[in-house]
Amino acid sequence: METRPTHAQKAVIQLRSQEWFEGRDELGLQSRSVLRSLGWSREFFTGKPVIGIANSWSELNNCNSGLKAVAEAVKRSVIAAGGLPLEFNTMSLGEELMKPSAMLYRNLLAMELEETLRAYPIDGVVLLTGCDKITPAQLMGAASANLPAIQVCAGPRIAGRWRGHEIASGTELWHYLDKYRTGGITEQDWQELEEHYACGIGTCNTMGTASTMTVLSEALGMMLPGTATIAATDTRRLAAAEASGRRIVELVQQDLRPAQIMTRAAFENALRVYTSIGGSTNAVIHLIAIAKRLRVPLTLDDFDTFARTTPMLLNVQPSGAKLLHDFDAAGGMPALMHEIRDLLHLECLTVTGQALQETVDAVSYRDAAVIFSRHEPLAPSGSIAVLRGNLAPRGAVIRTTTASAQLKQHSGPALVFENYTDLLARIDRPDLPVDANSVLVLRNAGAVGVPGLPEWGSIPIPEKLLRQGVQDMVRISDSRMSGTSSGTVVLHVTPEAAIGGPLALVQDGDIIELDIEQRTLTLHVSEEELQRRRSDWMPPRQMHGRGYPRLYAEHVLQPDEGCDFDFLLPQSEADLAFQPP
Ligand code: FES
Ligand code: MG
Repeated sequence: METRPTHAQKAVIQLRSQEWFEGRDELGLQSRSVLRSLGWSREFFTGKPVIGIANSWSELNNCNSGLKAVAEAVKRSVIAAGGLPLEFNTMSLGEELMKPSAMLYRNLLAMELEETLRAYPIDGVVLLTGCDKITPAQLMGAASANLPAIQVCAGPRIAGRWRGHEIASGTELWHYLDKYRTGGITEQDWQELEEHYACGIGTCNTMGTASTMTVLSEALGMMLPGTATIAATDTRRLAAAEASGRRIVELVQQDLRPAQIMTRAAFENALRVYTSIGGSTNAVIHLIAIAKRLRVPLTLDDFDTFARTTPMLLNVQPSGAKLLHDFDAAGGMPALMHEIRDLLHLECLTVTGQALQETVDAVSYRDAAVIFSRHEPLAPSGSIAVLRGNLAPRGAVIRTTTASAQLKQHSGPALVFENYTDLLARIDRPDLPVDANSVLVLRNAGAVGVPGLPEWGSIPIPEKLLRQGVQDMVRISDSRMSGTSSGTVVLHVTPEAAIGGPLALVQDGDIIELDIEQRTLTLHVSEEELQRRRSDWMPPRQMHGRGYPRLYAEHVLQPDEGCDFDFLLPQSEADLAFQPP
């Protein structure tokens, strides 16, 4: 089915790497001697495209531990297809171990990748991703470098089983944490859960941020069709890696680049898919960041507009009931896209070299218990809503598919936590002045405030309310939350408190009103009173006087602009052209 490059196409391609390897001067000799000293013979490498394999494998990141084998599969197929594979390691952003958040380093990885591609003699790149922030970071870096690129993921982990059911990554942990805090399970149960919780290699098996982003990479056209959902330990994953290795050599020969694939129409496809899968709220920030690297217009309002007119079809946790391996067996992304094909731009080119139409037309199977039908969806519209109001002038988001029905329209008195330390110190105190109507507010947890926008937004339900059976409350912050979390949780309040956003002015007892249907978030305090509070407000002291966290806090944009660095955005069309050194 794939379009093969014609001989004529091959002949006209001037490989970028030839500047290094074909010179007759001392630099040419030196460059060739590098390849010889790596063990490649001149007969083997001469005239071949150099394919970088950007591997985010690391022992610091369990989610990506399968990528060593994936890289080997890519390599053998690159060689078979006539390329020269050179693997390099990049930073690995492991969500579980990095503090305060892997998000702090997303832009750093994007810069590292872009500069590696710029500095070395690479003609095309295979991006090996896994855990949450790596996928957007690679797409941001690849978009800016704009060399032919294809993404391959580690794949979701097969679920562990505990007491008769499958353990859902993240989602189940939050569930059992609340039971553990209130004595609903014993210390021994908690330890047993640990044994079974993450007993497979690969990424989270729920529709958290990792799977949302790999699925969206496929929707954008940057990953081969049907490959995002293949489990990490399924041997089809290595076959997908082989196919991707073959394709990158052809992509170089065809000179098909990310900017030709990730167009406005491709982002609109991604927005449709995002809504139909009930994806992670983090994807809002990431998609905007990727689009801005290419000067593709994409706004918060686009998310709301597309959510209102796209049905939610995918029955996968936390918005649904199943897991990623069920999605894969149900037909995966091609089957999902086939079901919403009337909403997609099928003319979009993908890394297959063909239009999305070809992928969608080839679908012959869909399991309707996992991928619901277009006409009998899980929800008729929207998995996300963009809220505005005097508390969030530049917007905030809420994942509507996991919000409680009775809280979708709610007014209540604010209980404010000044920062995360304050939250941890007080949330479980028996004398906390809180009831089920309260609106929990966490501030100074944003991109500048921490810095790095950690996943602190799913504020725990206070223990004394948990014991009364309260399972959800309205929670509001300038933070993010894990894609595997759920609840009536308002996130990414922009501008954030640390730069003087209205969230900084909220006091205990102020009435806050959330109305998801109306898309509003309102602080019922007069403008005069807010002005008075604003004149008393002092920005919190920046904790970091030097180094990367300082650079980050000084240059990071707010969530409505993708939280990229201001200096990484192209200022004009001229900035989009890849400039070799
Ligand atoms: Fe790495 Fe979920 S923590 S994929
Ligand atoms: Mg996550």
